[in-house]
Amino acid sequence: MAATDLERFSNEEKRNLSLGGHVGFDSLPDQLVSKSVTQGFSFNILCVGETGIGKSTLMNTLFNTTFETEEASHYESAVRLRPRTYDLQESNVHLKLTIVDAVGFGDQINKDESYRPIVEYIDTQFENYLQEELKIRRSLFNYHDTRIHVCLYFITPTGHSLKSLDLVTMKKLDSKVNIIPIIAKADTISKSELHKFKIKIMSELVSNGVQIYQFPTDDEAVAEINSVMNAHLPFAVVGSTEEVKVGNKLVRARQYPWGVVQVENESHCDFVKLREMLIRVNMEDLREQTHTRHYELYRRCKLEEMGFKDTDPDNQPFSLQETYETKRKEFLGELQRKEEEMRQMFVNKVKETEAELKEKERELHEKFEHLKRIHQEEKRKVEEKRKELEEEMNAFNRRKVAVETLQSQSLQATSQQPLKKDKDKKK
Ligand code: GTP
Ligand code: MG
Repeated sequence: MAATDLERFSNEEKRNLSLGGHVGFDSLPDQLVSKSVTQGFSFNILCVGETGIGKSTLMNTLFNTTFETEEASHYESAVRLRPRTYDLQESNVHLKLTIVDAVGFGDQINKDESYRPIVEYIDTQFENYLQEELKIRRSLFNYHDTRIHVCLYFITPTGHSLKSLDLVTMKKLDSKVNIIPIIAKADTISKSELHKFKIKIMSELVSNGVQIYQFPTDDEAVAEINSVMNAHLPFAVVGSTEEVKVGNKLVRARQYPWGVVQVENESHCDFVKLREMLIRVNMEDLREQTHTRHYELYRRCKLEEMGFKDTDPDNQPFSLQETYETKRKEFLGELQRKEEEMRQMFVNKVKETEAELKEKERELHEKFEHLKRIHQEEKRKVEEKRKELEEEMNAFNRRKVAVETLQSQSLQATSQQPLKKDKDKKK
C-alpha cells in the first residue's frame, strides 16, 4: 500500500454498524481458547536458593505431585543449572512444565561469579528463541519455549537481612526474568520476627534498586487481589509433602513435637497466596511479561548489537538490505585487516626466528672455535710431555747402559784377582 493510501485509510472515519442478525464472530474468544487448549502451554520456573533450602519440596507441594529429586551436594565447584521437563495435565489442559534448579548455589567459597551461570542460562533460552524467530522457515507454533517465566528466589530465613549474594544475584537477574522472592522454611522463624524480616527485605530491595515482579493491577478482574498480594511480598512459605490428620481431614503439614504447621493454612504461612498468585491468577501474565518485557529487551539489545536499527539518522525506516550490506562491508574490511595483521605477524615471527637461529649459529661457531683452541693447546701440552718423557727415557737408558758397563767391568776385575793370588803363593 502506498504511503498516501495508508494515510487516507487511517484518517478515514470508522463507522459503527449494527448487525441484522447473529453472524458468529462473538465466538472468536472461544476459538482462541480452544486453539490454545489444543496447543497446550509451557511454563518454566527457575528455582534459585541455597542447597537444601526446600526448593524441591516446595515444587512438589505447589504442583501436588512428586517430581524426581536428587539431593545436591555441598561440594559443587560452580553453580550448575539443571532443567527438568514434565508433562502435566489438569482437566483437559496440558502443561509442559520445566523446573530449573540452580544446583550448588551459595556453596562456593568465592561467590563472585555465582550469578553468571544463571544469567547465561536465561540468555541462552532467549537466544534459542531469537534464532527460531530469525529462521526463514520458523516453527514457533510447535516450538518448545524454554524461556524462564519466573524465578522463585528462596531467601534463607535468617531473620536478619538479605545476604550480599542475594542482592547481587537478584540485581543481575531483574532485567532478565520475573523475580518472586520467597522466604523459605518460614516455620523456622517467629511471627513477629517474620514481619520485621519482610519489611527489612523489601526496604533492602528498594534501596538497592532491585526490581521484583509486581502482580499486575491493570486488569480490573484481578486488580484488587493483586494489589493486596503485592503488599504481602515476599511470601513466607512452608513446604511439605507429608500428610497429617487435623480434625478429620488429611492436610499437608509439618509435624513438630509442639504442634503442626499446616502448609495450606493462611494463618500459618503464605503458601496458598504464592500458589494463587503464581498459578491460578498470574501464570499468563508471567508468560506475557517474559515475552513482552524481558525477551523484548534481550532481542532489542542483540539486534542493535548486530547493527540493526528501526530508523536511520534521518529518521527514515532502516533498510534491512542496507544494514546487511554495511555489515557485510564492515565484516569484510575487518577480515582483511585481520588477515593483513596475521601476515605481518607471521613475517615478523619468521624474521625473529631467523635472527634467533643466526645468533644460535654464531654462538655454536664460537663455542666450536673455543673448543678447538682448547684441544690444540691440550695436544701441544701432551706432545711436550711426550718429548720430555722420551728424553727422560733416553737419559735413563744411557744411565742404565753406563751402569751395566761399570758392573761388568767390576765383575771382571774381581774374577782376575784370585788367580793373581795363586800365582803369588806358588812363587
Ligand atoms: P537441594 O536440591 O539438594 O539443593 O535441596 P532443596 O532446596 O531441593 O531442598 P529439599 O526440598 O530437598 O529440602 C531439604 C530439607 O529441608 C528436607 O529435609 C525437607 O524436609 C526440609 N524442608 C523443606 N521445606 C521445608 C520447610 O518449609 N520447612 C522446614 N522446616 N523444612 C523444610
Ligand atoms: Mg532439590
